[in-house]
Amino acid sequence: MQIGVPKETAPNERRVALVPDAVGRLVKAGYEIVVEQGAGAGAAFPDEAFRAAGAALVGAPADVFGRSDVVLKVQPPTPAEIRLCREGGALVALFQPSVERDAIVQLAARKVTAFSLALLPRITRAQPMDVLSSQATVAGYKAVLLAATAAGRFLPMLVTAAGTLPPARVLVLGAGVAGLQAIATARRLGAVVSAFDVRPAVKEQVESLGARFLQLDIGGQGEGTGGYAKELSQETHRRELEFLAQSVKDADIVITTAAIPGKRAPLLVTADAVRGMKPGSVILDLAVETGGNCELSQPGKDVVERGVLILGPLNVPSTLPSHASQMYARNVSSFLVHVAREGRLNLDFSDEIIRDTCVTHAGEVRKS
Ligand code: NAI
Repeated sequence: MQIGVPKETAPNERRVALVPDAVGRLVKAGYEIVVEQGAGAGAAFPDEAFRAAGAALVGAPADVFGRSDVVLKVQPPTPAEIRLCREGGALVALFQPSVERDAIVQLAARKVTAFSLALLPRITRAQPMDVLSSQATVAGYKAVLLAATAAGRFLPMLVTAAGTLPPARVLVLGAGVAGLQAIATARRLGAVVSAFDVRPAVKEQVESLGARFLQLDIGGQGEGTGGYAKELSQETHRRELEFLAQSVKDADIVITTAAIPGKRAPLLVTADAVRGMKPGSVILDLAVETGGNCELSQPGKDVVERGVLILGPLNVPSTLPSHASQMYARNVSSFLVHVAREGRLNLDFSDEIIRDTCVTHAGEVRKS
């Protein structure tokens, strides 16, 4: 079975779907791998490393898409890429069908069997394929580094001949995979960390990382199905906003990561709350791509409001491309081995992983 890895074409995307190490393992397992020249360059994986791992290098995207039974990508395919896909071929990428409607219709028309790893069920069996978690881990870590770099102060406490400097206070809002990694990273840098989430179940995890859990009694309202959060009622959300407006006042750095699957990110820090913060504080809104947790954050921009800097970075995992690609490659290889048993696609739709992730097949749109 031939697997293709094209160079990602989205602006600022430096990741690649397979790294040489993963290529080596798949070649050993009997797959043939075709990689577009320069595909790994942005993540510091040169063509020679792919060749040494057993991949064939080709010069044009058409040779990857046209020759492959399964194409592995990070970003959703562009219209031009879909036109290059082989009819009846398969494609795996990371995208939200509700956002990529046009691509999905085009993939179905081309009779491509397409899978979105964003739809992977969060079940134990699927953990090795969980790209949302691996990329959120990268985002949570990098968010703290970006905020720390933008802040005009140290994170750890320093006792020096030039005076004693207190540790920075970091507040993390949303304690899912990204939030927990942000807490761990801020702690490693010596900050005093507190965190808030609407799911009371995360209190223990937050505390086990050495952070303080901020408690607001919302009567179990934040816990939805499958361990995910759900939207709060208007009244509870109002109480949450008031509570957080007080909490952010003390913080030097606020990292926001709150999300609700399939919905706009919840608003957690209002413009008024920002105006109540100390000048020099930094907010980093990791949810900016899905609507933002801070009222003033703007996608891809730095905003300053009364001395408070609000960062809205886009595609944060791509800014740590080597490890983000390495983790993605592990996840996507596990997925590939799951759907392509014995050298061909095993489309057993009674399997939850295959059923949930398959967005188009045999000319039909299965998820939108
Ligand atoms: P996410 O990225 O969907 O959301 C981030 C966090 O925001 C969540 O902790 C959520 O509770 C919080 N949040 C939502 N609304 C909020 C609000 N109004 N105020 C404050 N916080 C708010 O979350 P992620 O990282 O995808 O994890 C969600 C769930 O999935 C967790 O229960 C996690 O344990 C579970 N999970 C399961 C895995 C598995 O394979 N079994 C793997 C990874 C996560």
